[in-house]
Amino acid sequence: MLGFTSKEKTKYSEGIPEGADDLTPPQHIAIIMDGNGRWATKRGLPRIAGHKRGLNSVRKVTREAKALGVKYLTLFAFSTENWLRPREEVHGLMDLFRFYMRRECKTLVAEGVRIKFIGDPSEMPEDIQKLMIEAEELTSDGEVMTLVVALNYGSRAEIVRAAARLSERVAAGEISSEDVTEEAISAELTTSGIPDPDLILRTSGEQRLSNFLLWQAAYTEFLFVDKHWPDFDQTSLQQAIIAYNNRDRRFGAVKEASA
Ligand code: IPE
Ligand code: IPE
Ligand code: MG
Repeated sequence: MLGFTSKEKTKYSEGIPEGADDLTPPQHIAIIMDGNGRWATKRGLPRIAGHKRGLNSVRKVTREAKALGVKYLTLFAFSTENWLRPREEVHGLMDLFRFYMRRECKTLVAEGVRIKFIGDPSEMPEDIQKLMIEAEELTSDGEVMTLVVALNYGSRAEIVRAAARLSERVAAGEISSEDVTEEAISAELTTSGIPDPDLILRTSGEQRLSNFLLWQAAYTEFLFVDKHWPDFDQTSLQQAIIAYNNRDRRFGAVKEASA
C-alpha cells in the first residue's frame, strides 16, 4: 500500500489484519472511490462494468463502517468535473445512481443509516433530484450512521457559493464583515452540520484530492491505497482504520507529555 509509514507497513500483512479486534473507529471516514475504470480495463471489460462492480464495494464498506462504529461515511460518487467524461459513461453512471437509490433505501432504513447528499443537485437529471430528496426523507430517522454521498460535488464551487452568499448578506446589512468567521463559512457549505473528516482514503494509487473537501480537510489524515475500488472490501477498511489508529494527530499543538 502507498502512503503508509514504515511503522504502519510492518504492522500487518494481507488477510485479516493483526489488531483488527481492537479498532478505534474514526468518527468520520471519507472515501475517494477511484479505479473503477482501471479495474475494468485490466479485465478487458467496458469501464461501466467497473462502476457496477464498485457498487458491491459501496455496500460492503457501508455495512462494515457501520458495524465498526463509524458515525459518518462520506463517499465521493461523482465530481463536478466528471461531466467531462464520454456521454455513454456519464449516462451509465446516472443509471447506476438511479438503481442504487431505488434498490438500497429500504436496506438503509432497516439498518438505521441516514443518507445525505452533498454537492450541487441542480445539475443532476430531474428524476435523480427527486430520488435524492426521497432517499433523504425516507432514511431521515436513521441514527446509527450517516452515509454522505457526494454527487456532483466540487469543493471550490461550494466555497465560492458560500463566499457569495455571505457577501450578499453583508451587502444587505444582515451581518457585518466580522461575522464572516470560519464557523460562518462552514455553515454555508453543503457539509454544514457534518463534522470534518478524520480520515480521507483514496483507492487506486493516485495521491490527490481532485477537488474533494478542500476546506473540510484542514486537519484530516490521508491514506492512499493501491487497491482499485472494486477490490476494496471489509478487510481493506479494517486495515485503513489500523493505519489511522497509528497516526499522531497534533492539530498544530504539542503533545502534553512532551510539552
Ligand atoms: C472512480 O473510478 C469512479 C468515478 C469517478 C465515478 P474512475 O472511473 O475514476 O476509475 P479510473 O480512475 O478511470 O480507473
Ligand atoms: C475523483 O476521481 C472523483 C470521484 C471518485 C467521484 P477522478 O478519477 O475523477 O479524479 P482524477 O481525474 O483522477 O483527478
Ligand atoms: Mg479516476
